[in-house]
Amino acid sequence: MQTTSIFYFSGTGNTWWVSREMARLLSEREICTRTHSIEQLTTGAATQLMAECDTVGFGYPIYGSDLPGPMEEFIARMEAVEGKRCFVFCTQWLWSGDGARAGAALLTSKGFDVRWGEHFLMPNNVCVAVMPLPFTNERKRIDAVLAKASHRIERFVEKIGTDRSFRRGFHPLSNLLGSLQRVPFQRLKGRMQDDIGVDGQRCTRCGYCVSLCPVDNLVEARQSIMTRSQCIFCMRCYNFCPESAITYRRRPHNLRRGVPYRGPVEGFDPRILR
Ligand SMILES: Cc1cc2nc3c(=O)[nH]c(=O)nc-3n(C[C@H](O)[C@H](O)[C@H](O)COP(=O)(O)O)c2cc1C
Repeated sequence: MQTTSIFYFSGTGNTWWVSREMARLLSEREICTRTHSIEQLTTGAATQLMAECDTVGFGYPIYGSDLPGPMEEFIARMEAVEGKRCFVFCTQWLWSGDGARAGAALLTSKGFDVRWGEHFLMPNNVCVAVMPLPFTNERKRIDAVLAKASHRIERFVEKIGTDRSFRRGFHPLSNLLGSLQRVPFQRLKGRMQDDIGVDGQRCTRCGYCVSLCPVDNLVEARQSIMTRSQCIFCMRCYNFCPESAITYRRRPHNLRRGVPYRGPVEGFDPRILR
């Protein structure tokens, strides 16, 4: 029996959900597949897991046509492999241009044979007041997005299962268009690391945000929650704070729009991503 390991980073659950669906469908095709959140995974453990399987998968949410910092660092830390078959996918709300190719470039430099790449449209997780993009927690609307994503996952898994290479977003034009978003976003990133804060009036100092942060940006101080200028904008603390007390550029969440996006499934618990 063939085996696959999918390594993913997910800020608010979308990439976790896609990875899980992919693993379920691959396993139905007799390709035994396990998923691993890269948070808390040591390089040694990851190397061992990769050595044990035939195919490796990598998944991440797209941030301005780029990879999230933890996934970039995870790939950079990995030992080089020789021609290991792999697939790469990103989840996105609207568009990335070459989101899968951006990860594939890093993986290829590590010796991976990137045979498949795909983009999956998922609900938007950016709900901050300064950028009033549309988002929803309405079950029906989320389910409609997930149903479409499911079809694309099925088609992607079929290509992997039948060993037909397929790489979305690898065309030079996609690369060019992706760069138009990625390059300015990369410049902006350095200036955004301090944008997350805590609203002293809403915050109950429960420490939930501290326990959720994938990069230890939030720390409990004596009277308040402090930040350490290393935010990667995954939106986990902002979206799952029970009091919606996390601020972005000093503005707390606008509760007139409802609570922020709370993940792809009813009662989603972000602690499983850690
Ligand atoms: C900082 C940031 C930047 C984003 N940039 C894009 C983007 O360029 N294009 C897009 O379609 N979605 C973008 N999104 C939306 C997410 O990629 C999308 O909602 C993703 O599925 C979230 O996955 P997760 O729940 O696994 O974190 C962005 C989200 C964040 C937080």
